Amino acid sequence: MTEVAKLILDGKELELPVITGTEGEKAIDIRSLRQQTGHITFDPGFGNTGTCRSAITYMDGEQGILRYRGYPIEQLAEHSTFVETAFLLITGQLPNRDELIRTSVDLNDFSTLHENMKAFYQNYPPKAHPMGILSAMVNAMRSFYPELQDDVEEEMNKTYLRLISKIRTMAAMAYRITKGERVVYPRPDLCYCANFLNMMFDSAVVPYYMDDDLVRALNVFWILHADHEQNCSTTAVRVVGSGKVNIYSAISAGISALWGPLHGGANQAVISMLERIHRDGLTIDECVAKAKDRKDPFRLMGFGHRVYKTYDPRAKIMKKMCDIVLSKVSQADPLLDIARRLEEMALSDPYFIEKDLYPNVDFYSGIVLRAMGIPTNMFTVMFAIGRLPGWISQWKEDWSDPEMKISRPRQIYSGALVRDYVPMSEREPAN
Ligand code: SDX
Repeated sequence: MTEVAKLILDGKELELPVITGTEGEKAIDIRSLRQQTGHITFDPGFGNTGTCRSAITYMDGEQGILRYRGYPIEQLAEHSTFVETAFLLITGQLPNRDELIRTSVDLNDFSTLHENMKAFYQNYPPKAHPMGILSAMVNAMRSFYPELQDDVEEEMNKTYLRLISKIRTMAAMAYRITKGERVVYPRPDLCYCANFLNMMFDSAVVPYYMDDDLVRALNVFWILHADHEQNCSTTAVRVVGSGKVNIYSAISAGISALWGPLHGGANQAVISMLERIHRDGLTIDECVAKAKDRKDPFRLMGFGHRVYKTYDPRAKIMKKMCDIVLSKVSQADPLLDIARRLEEMALSDPYFIEKDLYPNVDFYSGIVLRAMGIPTNMFTVMFAIGRLPGWISQWKEDWSDPEMKISRPRQIYSGALVRDYVPMSEREPAN
């Protein structure tokens, strides 16, 4: 028997079906609401609105649970690699040995860029933000790789791998060229993460020393960022993709959405906040007081989350990574000490407790990236590289979902009532 929700409106009783997910989550199916009642729902920011059914990622914000295709994030972070996790997200299954080898070979084959794409970089000003460059370069892929048959699975699998492989090269190239350094090409003998580090930091003068622990840390960093159900940037990818535009343009939209300081840009904002505290000698008490003051725009970046109302499970793993990567670079990071004291203070403060504000994935990630030598303006680019398999898997699911239609929300109009045009001669002069 279908479970229903009863709605009484204008004296009439309406029954709406209730949808139940595999983990027992419930949703009221309102697809017939406007047609039956003339009413729509109102939910700015979609905090109470499900936009799709998805089999990719499961989150429980109250319990602090995160699973990709049923696998707990803690197990993937401990045992998997980023390439294996990307395969899992996109296909729904962990790869067997041959599939993993095939995927790694394809990622190597796709790792270089069309030489003409390099010209794009030469014309960016040195201060250009790499997120803006990355979004533009991914969109430009449609022009350089036009052989895109959305309805041929074999072709689309190649496209997914092309994106995952080239985004690394594009990101490293943005860093090197804006620094005025020669571009380092990908190497077939290096794994996905090692190749990225080498493209970023190898030098003709001082060859880059590949530290296996840092390569492992980068794998974990990207595994933790790989997907997160219907977050802002994934919603952007789905909404833009719902118009049946090519995947490159949809992913480019996701990169732009991720850039915001309330979303993926928070990792860069956390470091800026910690640096400001360190530079200006702000006390932890002053920071917490500013964060609590509603008249003060200062927010504790890296704290709070729309879904997690407890510790973000990714932040726990990221915090542990801080100690590992900092021990490799044998220098203490004063910002880590500030972060730890800030966290300790906030977790015991009634304001943060009442509002369920806990550290999220971005709170410690910047410290891990700094220890790897990643410059601050590349932090959100690192998030984007990690999130790409998630965006691809969500885009793919959206395109193959028979329930999906072009995204076109409604609104409640709050503007002027109807009025006639006023000729200039009759308009009030500016006072
Ligand atoms: C990511 O969605 C995802 O899954 C995102 C993500 C992913 O993997 O894709 O997890 C990645 O984006 C993580 C979040 C990174 N952003 C930040 O760290 C920026 C700082 N955090 C906030 O701006 C905020 O917490 C959000 C944006 C993350 C969530 O905002 P919500 O859910 O819209 O909550 P809200 O802004 O309405 O805040 C609720 C209350 C408010 O107080 P009141 O108006 O009720 O009095 O909590 C307060 C807020 O002022 N609050 C904070 C705060 N975050 C919320 N107060 C101080 N410091 C903060 N960080």
